[in-house]
Amino acid sequence: MSVWRVKPVSAFEADMKKSDLKRVLTKWGLTSLGIGAIIGGGIFTLTGIAAHDYAGPALALSFVIAGIGCLFASLCYAEFASVLPVEGSAYAYAYGTVGELFAWFIGWNLILEYMMGATTVAVAWSGYFVKLLHLFGIEFPIWLCNDLATATEKSQALGLAAPEFAFNLPAFLITWIVTAILVKGIQEAAKTNNIIVIIKIAVVLFVIIVGAFYINTDNWTPFIPAEVPALDDAGNPTGKMNFGFGGVLTAATIVFFAYIGFDAVSTQAGEAINPKKDVPFAIIASLVICTILYILVSLVLTGMVKYDQLDKAAPVASAFSGIGINWAVFIITLAATAGLTSVMLVMMLGQTRIFLGMSKDGLIPKFFKELHPSFKTPHKSTIMVGGLISLVAAFTPIDKVSEMCSMGTLLAFAMVCVAVMILRYKKPELERPYRTPAVYLIGTLGVSFNIFLMTQVRMATWKFFIIWGVLGIIVYFVYSKRNSNLNKLPE
Ligand code: ALA
Repeated sequence: MSVWRVKPVSAFEADMKKSDLKRVLTKWGLTSLGIGAIIGGGIFTLTGIAAHDYAGPALALSFVIAGIGCLFASLCYAEFASVLPVEGSAYAYAYGTVGELFAWFIGWNLILEYMMGATTVAVAWSGYFVKLLHLFGIEFPIWLCNDLATATEKSQALGLAAPEFAFNLPAFLITWIVTAILVKGIQEAAKTNNIIVIIKIAVVLFVIIVGAFYINTDNWTPFIPAEVPALDDAGNPTGKMNFGFGGVLTAATIVFFAYIGFDAVSTQAGEAINPKKDVPFAIIASLVICTILYILVSLVLTGMVKYDQLDKAAPVASAFSGIGINWAVFIITLAATAGLTSVMLVMMLGQTRIFLGMSKDGLIPKFFKELHPSFKTPHKSTIMVGGLISLVAAFTPIDKVSEMCSMGTLLAFAMVCVAVMILRYKKPELERPYRTPAVYLIGTLGVSFNIFLMTQVRMATWKFFIIWGVLGIIVYFVYSKRNSNLNKLPE
């Protein structure tokens, strides 16, 4: 029983034929899911810190760099999705090529991407929702919209007594609302997502078109500000530099988060009408559309406001209040709140479909593959995922959790780039409705880019990442290896 055993492509095909999921998603429905997962907290918040502290007006360049890196990975995802259009995404691709342990490890890391991603976004959603209420003059008590550590910090900053108990109610509730939509059905989820995507794109276009009239080209010079020593929170030098080309790269690692989500399309292959053609199309289309929008938004933003004057918490909304269009603040806050809901929707959808794939293979318990008799959704797994996310989001300070989400994603991207090259080499004869162009070059560039970004992540995050990885390997040997369906196949 080797840990390198591979699931045969014929076994994937047999699984696909047996699937009870409803095939309802069209080409543009899938693209909309991709955009739904991509545009969110990244563009509405991280642009502030990335331009203000690291890249200046060259933020657009950071978006180009991160976008090209993601494009390499997306081209590799697209080939796989055309060969193995199954719900397990990167996990399944690795299972069909490199081997079981490698696949398990990817699946384990995808939990970081999807579950941690959704948790981060739930807390960000709560922040935006509270801001929206504030615009209507409604104030939420600090202890009821933060975890205890954050509530204590915020109360003390305002000179108030620290609370004894805190619970992030908006984050908790939004998770359950999204869970209910997901249990109800893929059609409901797709419809909700489509409405949100229209709102999001409309507001992003509004920012680009209206903002363009307020660009002062002087704000773009110098395009890449000169390097300065980076300081920590206490004002001491960290030994690193901000700005300069290094700063542009650091900003690229920050805004990478804004691109996460295009790969979630590949988890919907089981619900696509024509997965072999439409999933590859949707992966690439959603990424390209968002990359163009992101580059334009960053040019407009740094053109409207001098980079060192950009607001770090809500850069897009603040840029408009700065030029006196105060009603735009309301529209942008509303769009960001709605936008984050669809990111959660697609991330949680993706997580349950990956669990479904892993459960069908016997690597995690059967519970994860049980479908609701009439909704045809994995309702038990969805409720469990929603329950976990709602509790973690309600009680945990997660300002740095987004880095764990990026780490899991980067590793999955790198592994998909490796696996696509292995599959081309080992099984050149397979029918590939979509072929990655210059696969060995694109694959190698994709691996290098993603590993490089991983090396830029903080040491503290690496430690947690390693602990998570070791835990995953223990679970594999204690449970998954023994229960794998491949035990039933002849070696
Ligand atoms: N790309 C998603 C966002 O920016 C995760 O919120």
